[in-house]
Amino acid sequence: MKFPQMTTNMKRKIATTIALSVIWMVAAVPAASQASAKTAPQTAGQRSPVAPTKEQVQAAVNEAYEKFKSNTEGKNADYIPELAKVDSKFYGIAIVTADGQTVTAGDVNQPFSIQSISKVFSLALAMEELGPDKVFEKIGSEPTGRAFNSVEAVVDMPTHTGNPLVNAGAIATVSLISAPTADAKYTKILDFYSKAAGEKLTLINEVYKSEAATNTGNKALAALLLKYERIYADPLESVDVYTKQCSIGVTAKQLAMMGATLANFGANPVTGQQVIKREDVPEILSAMTMAGLYDGSGGWAWHVGLPAKSGVGGGIVAVVPGKGAIAVFAPPLDKAGNSVKAQLAITYVAEKLGINLYSPRSVGVK
Ligand code: DON
Repeated sequence: MKFPQMTTNMKRKIATTIALSVIWMVAAVPAASQASAKTAPQTAGQRSPVAPTKEQVQAAVNEAYEKFKSNTEGKNADYIPELAKVDSKFYGIAIVTADGQTVTAGDVNQPFSIQSISKVFSLALAMEELGPDKVFEKIGSEPTGRAFNSVEAVVDMPTHTGNPLVNAGAIATVSLISAPTADAKYTKILDFYSKAAGEKLTLINEVYKSEAATNTGNKALAALLLKYERIYADPLESVDVYTKQCSIGVTAKQLAMMGATLANFGANPVTGQQVIKREDVPEILSAMTMAGLYDGSGGWAWHVGLPAKSGVGGGIVAVVPGKGAIAVFAPPLDKAGNSVKAQLAITYVAEKLGINLYSPRSVGVK
């Protein structure tokens, strides 16, 4: 575009104003140009053509917060007794962009157990150690169309694999991660998640104890995987480490940062550390698209069009590649085990900001 009537100074001023007010940036710039971006203001040309301003993002988040605050649909998970005790009214929305800006509303500093959202990051760790092909061969990537803890899904699948985001596949994924002891494996996992969050995360011990005392179903899944030679370390030890990883506490803000690490192609946007291998991110996001919301994944893809992952602790994180992530915490769940308010809030914000990946709006076309 030409501005024939403007002086160079005027053009520079306008470019700087756009650069400062626009929130989504194209993060897929090589490290070298990211480094220079710290010293010189970015030009508008490096920004997404459809970038909303920070004010627009904050307005969408505030609206989503107000709109669904009083929604009382759904019910806390109670098959893990400790989760039934969590205040059902907690509700927080956090967005972190791929360049590290944060927008929030509500209870975004309240820790909750990460639960199944952990599966995404253990998958990333297993991929780092074994490479994507080995993980695909040993775990699979087929949506099951069944509940997250389905036994039938393991039996019915001809290869007896599934995907890394249902319980069986996630326990098998944990079994792939190398470590001399179970404790060392858990510590490795916790450190990896902490790097993605950009700060030290800790276990919610009451949730761990509560699930460890009641997880007969997961132990049965592990035994079944053993029968089909689809688990690669001691089954009960793998279930225990998996149970612990699910009990790690995160806040909505920390979860959004973990999502933003994926959105920023594996590099934490604030610490700058490359936590997840850049080349593994597309497969991880594809797994989230296929199975992130279990038997709700098809409907989610249809309506929202963003890779996402839910947990029975009430969290959901959705990733907008190259742009950022949105995390919502609200404990009451639907029948598939996905937070009702989190789905509503993310759907609202995604629609408002035009970030459905399959929509013309996401690339600036009407
Ligand atoms: O293994 C379980 O059942 C839980 N620790 C995790 C399940 C879960 O979060 C399903 N997500 N929506």
